[in-house]
Amino acid sequence: MHWFQATLTTTLAVFGSALAQDESLPGLSPRQTLPIPASCPGVTAKSSYKLSAASGWKYTLLATGLSKPRSLVFDTEGHLLILQTGLGVTAHTLGADGCINATRTVLANQQLNHGLALSPDGKTLYVSAAPTAWSYRYDAATMTATGQTAVVRGMNPSGHNSRTLAVPPNRPDLLIVSLGSGGNIDDASVKKETGRAIVKVFDLTKTPAGGWTYNTQGWYLGYGLRNEIGIIFDGNNMVWGVENSGDELKRTIGGTSVDVHIDNPAEELNYLGDPSKSNEQWYGYPTCWTVGDPSVIKDAAFKIGEQFVITPNATFNDASCAKKSVPPRLSMKAHSAPIDGKFDQDYKNLYVSLHGSWNRQPATGYKVIQIPFQKLESGAYDPVAPPDSPFTQGYSEILWTSSPNENSCSSATCLRPTGITWHPDGSRMYVGSDGSVGEVYVLYKA
Ligand SMILES: *[C@@H]1O[C@H](CO)[C@@H](O)[C@H](O)[C@H]1NC(C)=O
Ligand SMILES: *[C@@H]1O[C@H](CO)[C@@H](O)[C@H](O)[C@H]1NC(C)=O
Repeated sequence: MHWFQATLTTTLAVFGSALAQDESLPGLSPRQTLPIPASCPGVTAKSSYKLSAASGWKYTLLATGLSKPRSLVFDTEGHLLILQTGLGVTAHTLGADGCINATRTVLANQQLNHGLALSPDGKTLYVSAAPTAWSYRYDAATMTATGQTAVVRGMNPSGHNSRTLAVPPNRPDLLIVSLGSGGNIDDASVKKETGRAIVKVFDLTKTPAGGWTYNTQGWYLGYGLRNEIGIIFDGNNMVWGVENSGDELKRTIGGTSVDVHIDNPAEELNYLGDPSKSNEQWYGYPTCWTVGDPSVIKDAAFKIGEQFVITPNATFNDASCAKKSVPPRLSMKAHSAPIDGKFDQDYKNLYVSLHGSWNRQPATGYKVIQIPFQKLESGAYDPVAPPDSPFTQGYSEILWTSSPNENSCSSATCLRPTGITWHPDGSRMYVGSDGSVGEVYVLYKA
């Protein structure tokens, strides 16, 4: 048995006996032992696809018929909060069998489309629509949110419209807000002051009336990030981002524009670092793209994970990327569309949802992957695989669409994993899916 599982079992046993003496805990305390359901009464798959899990893993359908669930988070009373696009935020109570036994609408707001975060003390709820992020006072006991306050405004509502929100576990005074590019190749965003293709941080203790203005205020956590949808904290509270890179990419080779898009550019796992300090490093977009398949870029000798330009010229070429841009720490297969991620409790693995994209034939994505991590002697967390790893070595698949075959998946026919969150007891993950049917799965080791 893995030492982590041994520790977890012991911990649960201790909590379990503590609970026997105090069964009057309101709702589901995060300390309470909760069974993992093999199925949930009345929850029958409305989707037509079949899933498979890696050996040692199992999954259970927890909820179906939701409105595009995008982000999931547990409150301090063990209620699962779900941001449902076009609907708002719902709170779900888990009954004694581990299935949902009650649902309450916390916020009814059709504008909400992606971002959801709770402060570390669980008392402030953050949500986003394309132009604005708001905070509310949140009461976990009653699952109610009150007192809407705009915290960030003026987010350019063109192009990518998800505004991922994250509060560092050790810095309840900071809010991280990610904003993608205006289009596939947003040339203007090469200047970070456009306020697109960047991640920013805002000081919540000094929020001006009406909220921070996204483009001109706060500080940077990297720029040249095409669409950094997943914002993830490691065990040192350092930030990692997962990025959806470009579509339909070509490379000018010997004067001819050659389609290289099937396996280029790779999707990215980027190290963004300490959110309390401004990070003004450029990560390459919209000029430097990450090599996923070097073999089709025939006029250069690349390794996976290095960066290329579409049309090299006298003033800017691939070597300029190597000098000026921060490449990803690890690459993922082109068009996988990574959109969220969470570490396990001992920071040995990062789990990432690959949403899948229209831009690859045969298709890819539509699955959840596991990226092994290690703690370096410096104390920093880092992927086990080197940056030039082939995808098959950098990560493994945990949950995937097995029917239809991944190759023929589309957004309408396959799992579209979105937000991932762990149960507070560390025993299982909850994974949203926003394809033709909105669903939440429980994913666990068994
Ligand atoms: C749901 O289950 C929890 C935990 O067992 C329990 O406290 C709560 O009363 C139940 N709610 C409903 C509506 O059945
Ligand atoms: C050279 O390439 C860079 C990066 O793509 C571009 O910004 C610049 O305009 C190009 N210069 C010329 C002369 O085409």
